[in-house]
Amino acid sequence: MNLMILLSLFLRIAGTAAVSRASSGSAGSASTLEPSSVVATTQTSTSIPLPSFPPVGSTPRDFSKKGLEHLWNLVGPVQAPPFTTTRIPTSTTVALPSPPPPLYPSFYAPAPKDILPELKFPSGFKFGVATAAYQVEGAVKDEGKGPTVWDWNSRQPGGVLDNTTGDVVDLQYFLYKEDVVRVAALGVNAHSFSISWARIFPFGTADSPVNQAGLKHYSDLIDYHIQHGVAPVATLFHWDTPLALSAYYGGFTSPQAVNDFIHYAKTVFAAYNGRVKTWYTFNEPRVFCGQTAGFPFNVSLAPGVNSSTAPYQCAYNVLKAHAGAVKAFRQMKIQGEIALKNDDFIGIPWRSNNSEDSLAVERHAAFQLGSFSDPLYTTGDWPKIMTDTLPPDFLPRFTEQEKKDNLGSADFFAIDSYREQFVAAPPDGIEACVSNSSHPLWPACNTVELFDSNAGWAAGVSPDPLSETWLQATPNTLRSFLKGLQTRWPTKKMYISEFGFDEPFENLRTEMFQITEDVARTNYYMTYLGQILLSIHEDGVPIMGAFAWAMIDNAEWNSGLSAKFGIQHVNYTTLERTYKRSALSLSEFFRAHLQN
Ligand code: GAL
Repeated sequence: MNLMILLSLFLRIAGTAAVSRASSGSAGSASTLEPSSVVATTQTSTSIPLPSFPPVGSTPRDFSKKGLEHLWNLVGPVQAPPFTTTRIPTSTTVALPSPPPPLYPSFYAPAPKDILPELKFPSGFKFGVATAAYQVEGAVKDEGKGPTVWDWNSRQPGGVLDNTTGDVVDLQYFLYKEDVVRVAALGVNAHSFSISWARIFPFGTADSPVNQAGLKHYSDLIDYHIQHGVAPVATLFHWDTPLALSAYYGGFTSPQAVNDFIHYAKTVFAAYNGRVKTWYTFNEPRVFCGQTAGFPFNVSLAPGVNSSTAPYQCAYNVLKAHAGAVKAFRQMKIQGEIALKNDDFIGIPWRSNNSEDSLAVERHAAFQLGSFSDPLYTTGDWPKIMTDTLPPDFLPRFTEQEKKDNLGSADFFAIDSYREQFVAAPPDGIEACVSNSSHPLWPACNTVELFDSNAGWAAGVSPDPLSETWLQATPNTLRSFLKGLQTRWPTKKMYISEFGFDEPFENLRTEMFQITEDVARTNYYMTYLGQILLSIHEDGVPIMGAFAWAMIDNAEWNSGLSAKFGIQHVNYTTLERTYKRSALSLSEFFRAHLQN
């Protein structure tokens, strides 16, 4: 029996909904901003008790060593890494292995360099790889870092499928130099990583002390990237809320997080100004805010907030934090560009020429991409579909000043674009759902369908079973999606800030020659990149960078180490990295299509 089945059995017995990246628009959406990637919790009388967490507001703000240890005690024992200093690469160059033989005969699939060979990326294009602090760094308790909600979640029953913690994972905190050298050898010219707020402010708040060791770490890391021709692209927040903020006031479900975030942002901007040229405030805030409503994060909601309202209260606070940070960025005259990383897709009507399904697509687009894109790029406000559906006690309304602050608070559009899927109206129709707040699909009132309405063909190639509720490889619809983005939220510059695929059943492979032969992922990247070239040249979409998720295998949130997204394998005994075919194919593709 596989782990997923075991887990779902366990959770069913426990009366708790599965904690995984559930499909959007399906059951549970009442309690999230449409949970494309996370889940809601349905507590029943047979539930296991919620994890123990001190009542929000009861933890004293003690910024001493003892206070920090108290916070770590909420997490429990932490595994120490095998070494605690930054490893220096033996050589600053890495010899790539000889190229893999062609995957298929060229009449079926051309070699990476031969895909649309006459088309090139515009000069200055970023060939990037992406990571996030919690997923790769390890060393969670080293050099003064405070605990985060993910250090805590990974230890809760059902929190992470295979009980992976962030304690050691890839240990990129101490191995970043080797990792930079390895990707530079592929020709990668940008790395999108995230800074862990709890390394800079272990207690999170604006009135708490800065951890100089944390500031110095990212300073060194940024310099090292620049020295190796890899542009550092920094995200301030990739879901790892300092645990202290959950304990003090309920994290981003409380308005108190706004000023603390802005203070953290200003500290980081000032420290790395001039060296980081591309910044993101938040990664996929919609997904993050969906998480706050679900198990086990729903034990630390701000007073007055419940699992149903949490995603919307969070979204409001996050947008204020984003806009405030961008205002500070501009007032401080920080060099470079800033935006947030949006996610998800617009959707394709499941039944063609069906007006209900077309409306369902509009609802999907409004509740998902629109919730953070309308405020930043078109109106400063929530999409009308959201305000028409959700009363103000769910979805706080922006003041006129807040709308002004939102609008224009992004210099470019960043999209984590993994897939595009069909969207359908609820079986009993949109009206029946919209008018009934107890409807299981309220408030977004749409479903995502993974296969077509005619013959039942899949929307795209299946990923690893652990991600099959949300992910499919859908290169054929990428161009129309990117054009749709430009139509709805026009921008002068767009980054595909993440794209990637988890190779089916890679976790079950034991032989290196099988692990490195990541055919589904390679096909994903080659077909997406060809479409990106066509988007640029034939559709005029101003795409200036594409970042492969992920630079290396890593802790994939609720799936832990069981779902593999890396273009490099990591041996979790030795921490040794090995390039997979996808890494070498990306390298060949970019070398052939980049111009200097
Ligand atoms: C993104 C997320 C990443 C990674 C990836 C693959 O939504 O930002 O952290 O988990 O999905 O699932």
